[in-house]
Amino acid sequence: MCVVQVRNKKGVSIMETINYVNTTYHDDIKEDVLSGLTASQKFIPSKYFYDARGSVLFEKICCLPEYYPTRTELSILRDAAPSIMHYFPDGDIVELGAGANWKIRTLLDIVPKNKLSNIRYIPVDVSEAALEASTEELLRIYPGLNMLGIVADFTRHMEMIPCGREKLFVFFGSTLGNFNEDAGDLFLKSVAGSLGEGDRFLLGIDMLKPRDILERAYNDSSGITAEFNKNILNVLNRALEADFDLDHFDHRAVFNMEKERMEMYLQANVDVVAEISSLGLTVKLEEGESILTEVCRKFTKGSVDRMAFNAGLNVTKWFSDPKGWFSLVEMERWNEGG
Ligand code: AVJ
Repeated sequence: MCVVQVRNKKGVSIMETINYVNTTYHDDIKEDVLSGLTASQKFIPSKYFYDARGSVLFEKICCLPEYYPTRTELSILRDAAPSIMHYFPDGDIVELGAGANWKIRTLLDIVPKNKLSNIRYIPVDVSEAALEASTEELLRIYPGLNMLGIVADFTRHMEMIPCGREKLFVFFGSTLGNFNEDAGDLFLKSVAGSLGEGDRFLLGIDMLKPRDILERAYNDSSGITAEFNKNILNVLNRALEADFDLDHFDHRAVFNMEKERMEMYLQANVDVVAEISSLGLTVKLEEGESILTEVCRKFTKGSVDRMAFNAGLNVTKWFSDPKGWFSLVEMERWNEGG
């Protein structure tokens, strides 16, 4: 654990970082890749996209003309910020999967300067590099703001989030869509379990829309998404001493109508034989065979209501853009005391 105290002209910001990932990452990735690449439909969990380079590539994706989710969510956030922050004069804002800080800034921007020290921002992210870059910048922009950076996989380390103060959990970017239905339900239940009375949860979700708009968002003309997708093989090559040749794979992203989700694959363009030394595993793919690297579920008002209800959550506010392409959903626990 490392504590950094930063003194500003206008006050003292306390910045701490706790790293839960260093000790578990190596075992996790071994186990995950072993089960993923020996399954009949090969897969690699999408959280392994986000090494330092993957995080930078994802930030580039967010600015692509075809990738509407980020700018749509930001516009909703800007409009909704006063309503969201009105009931939150002090407490902890916990951001799950924090990454870059553009979104949280829309909330912090409307906090009066002399009230910033009442708030503690707790970003949780698996990428230590992304977390450091983001919090250093926030310390400069918001003097007095307190921060506790947590390097962790929030799907496994939910219990490490400190309790005690009033909480606003935020989970932006439709990252929930990366989980399959069971994992998503489990995750929402764990969030519900962390919410006390008066605490709130703000969830960003991408809405179901016509196929061509969705497929364009994941097949950008500049090829950044393809680079991002292939980079997951670099992560494996480095972390597991593997020898995947990135040129032997093509990026594929297709909408699965029946499952209401985008699916991203790496498709072998030749017969592939790769060694993963640290697992003692030889991976074989026939030309045309693919590895599933990401699913991005798309939601409807009905599916969100159902999901929330199943997890013990109650939708209190619904914010959307005029086209209804993206939504921010505010929730609270419904089973208090029950
Ligand atoms: C961060 C998971 C929400 O699914 O849209 C973007 C990741 N993958 N382009 C998404 C992503 C390809 C993104 N999430």
